[in-house]
Amino acid sequence: METLTKKKANISGTLETIYERRAVRKYKHQTVDRKIIEQIIDAGRMAPSAINKQPWKFYILTDKDLIHSFSKEIGKVAAKGVLKTGVKGIINSLRGPFHLLQGIKFVMTSDPVFHGAPVVIFITAPKENEWASLDVGMCAQNMMLAAKTLGLETCPIGFAKFVEQTNLYSKLNIPDSEHVLLAIILGYGDEKPEVHQRKKDNVIYIDPL
Ligand SMILES: Cc1cc2nc3c(=O)[nH]c(=O)nc-3n(C[C@H](O)[C@H](O)[C@H](O)COP(=O)(O)O)c2cc1C
Repeated sequence: METLTKKKANISGTLETIYERRAVRKYKHQTVDRKIIEQIIDAGRMAPSAINKQPWKFYILTDKDLIHSFSKEIGKVAAKGVLKTGVKGIINSLRGPFHLLQGIKFVMTSDPVFHGAPVVIFITAPKENEWASLDVGMCAQNMMLAAKTLGLETCPIGFAKFVEQTNLYSKLNIPDSEHVLLAIILGYGDEKPEVHQRKKDNVIYIDPL
């Protein structure tokens, strides 16, 4: 009976973490202990992966100045991309992964890509693995939920893929056979973003009632 109650409490804990996680874009100037980073990565490693390939690799930045330099360089490449797509592209990009406020912040802030976070984790996978994006997505979600459980905040950074087009890319020592699919930033949060309402009109039951 006691075990059942404990199990129930754990389940609600997991759900709570899922509902409480937000994309956080403001961080305290507080470093993150390496043991905590390791714990978060280990949770990522527990994600399922197609044919159990575990294709992910983690390249980690914790140096403030280096993170800032990467952010600036990636920001420049990303901005060029936005310019190429023209005004329509800008409007679309603001409607897409970013809402308007984020778009304005992106242009205005000094760290437009990594949002001043003390830890950046680039996640790569072999280029030839067709399932890797899905695997890395699951790995990243595990990491973000683990971080939340440990009292940290995170944000997935799709823009990080532009790192490959920057002069700094060679500093990461990522082999040619791999590519960056995503980065996760993490640290102690300094904001509590609103919940974005979730769309509810996306379920189709096929079986008759
Ligand atoms: C694949 C992916 C890429 C993302 N890329 C960025 C990014 O480059 N910069 C950023 O600030 N947020 C990025 N986000 C965060 C989303 O904007 C955020 O998750 C979404 O607005 C929902 O907000 P929530 O996570 O607080 O629920 C990304 C999210 C995902 C899943």
